[in-house]
Amino acid sequence: MASGLAPLASAVLDAVTAAGGEAVASTDVAASQGVPHSVLVDTALKTLSAREALTLTPVSHEAWVLTAEGATYAAAGSPEAQLVRHLAAATGGQSLPNVDAALGAGVRKIGMQQAMRLGWVVMDRPTKTLALGAGLSADALPTDDVAAALNTLRDGGGDAAAAAATGVDEATRKALQKRKLATPKTTKTFAITPGARIADARRPQATELSREMLDSGSWRGAAFKPYNFAAKGKDVAGGHLHTLLKVREQFRLIFLEMGFSEMDSARYVESSFWNFDALFQPQQHPARDEHDTFFLSSPATATLPEGAGDYVARVKAAHCGGEAGAAVTGGSRGYRYAWSAAEARKNILRTHTTAVTARMLQRLAADTASAGGVFTPAKMFSIDRVFRNETLDATHLAEFHQIEGMVADHNLSLGHLKGVIHTFFKKMGMDRLRFKPTHNPYTEPSLEVHAFHPGLNKWVEVGNSGMFRPEMLLPMGLPPDVRVIAWGLSLERPTMIKYGVQNIRDLFGHKIDLEAIQRNPICRITF
Ligand code: PHE
Repeated sequence: MASGLAPLASAVLDAVTAAGGEAVASTDVAASQGVPHSVLVDTALKTLSAREALTLTPVSHEAWVLTAEGATYAAAGSPEAQLVRHLAAATGGQSLPNVDAALGAGVRKIGMQQAMRLGWVVMDRPTKTLALGAGLSADALPTDDVAAALNTLRDGGGDAAAAAATGVDEATRKALQKRKLATPKTTKTFAITPGARIADARRPQATELSREMLDSGSWRGAAFKPYNFAAKGKDVAGGHLHTLLKVREQFRLIFLEMGFSEMDSARYVESSFWNFDALFQPQQHPARDEHDTFFLSSPATATLPEGAGDYVARVKAAHCGGEAGAAVTGGSRGYRYAWSAAEARKNILRTHTTAVTARMLQRLAADTASAGGVFTPAKMFSIDRVFRNETLDATHLAEFHQIEGMVADHNLSLGHLKGVIHTFFKKMGMDRLRFKPTHNPYTEPSLEVHAFHPGLNKWVEVGNSGMFRPEMLLPMGLPPDVRVIAWGLSLERPTMIKYGVQNIRDLFGHKIDLEAIQRNPICRITF
């Protein structure tokens, strides 16, 4: 094909050229080429009109098509006519089983219903037999208008205009539609006329201007493919944020709106000291067992923050209690056991981001000392990964993310804690909160936070919180009137609720659904 055009496209151009400016019906071209109309549209008309070789004017037709039931009646007569013909051929009244045997129960039932309504057939109630209606006989049968109309529609190609012309009026068509014998169907075809660039249509289309064309001057005679400014760009399949990252960003924004700054939490491996001891968690505490915590074999130990004055010694005193402990903690009896530095040195994967908070508070205490005892209040948060030696199931993994907020200031009270938590959760659309007493080794009092979840329409536990104990803060050297309120929650739980994830393994780990990550919408936290 020198022209580079498919035969079908060539045939369309021939037909349009031969019509000398008159519109050509796409249905006529499809018929003369012996192809279905849709094939003509998809393989020839769309391309030619994009090249401006043709102008397509849509024409819609209402056509009537017979249903399968309608088609059988067009051939065999309507059920009512079949029934009447059967009764006219028989002698005497016919029992229902008799008629069923001849016509089938389906045809008999519909036929009876229609024919009795028309008065074509009557039923003798006591004997339950059917007979022809008054004035009807084998020589005087009613005309089967339904079958006639169905035949007209079928033979006229279903064209509504043609049907009307041959007497199948609107009301008849509607009646057939109601009996589900025929339905209107709108089809779209085109009136085809020459386009502005029909002269170029048979020539190969240049898609770009090349150096060779400029050198040889062939660009002067070339036919260029028009730009398609309506074409959609390609989907760029790359750089999708993981669902947890989307939710994390929203929590980050909430904290930033509330004036919090983010702590440096880039430390998965932590010493037991910062994860537990600094938080006044005794060394016999079950959470420090290898059933709950991952211990590192290499490097197995860390150095303790001996450089931070006598901080380690003060932590030890707080744990051991006695006079030294009471002096450090302002009167606490401590746990009264022999605190082991070796145990505190053990490296672990941090079990909570409160280890990050502890490091930060100790730094604030050191800053206070450097500033001659002047404490600067702080509001800080972190959102990062923690690890627990958990039994894995649909809602638990051995690693997850914690969101943690902390406020340190003079004379904070439990009221401040509840207030700041209210503000925090209100920003997510949760304004009904309840607090339930709980226990953490490092906070007193400790409160579980429960919120009424409007989406789930029930109360759900949303976090854990408390006021850090003096046994934790005073060894750091924070001024005695400085109180620290803090709360924490997991990132996974709100993410699973928000994105309707049932199994945490679909959200995180090697079994995650990558397509879901690409499809998931951006996150707006309102529950
Ligand atoms: N560290 C607690 C946890 O892992 C959360 C918490 C943070 C509780 C701060 C009180 C204060 O669940």
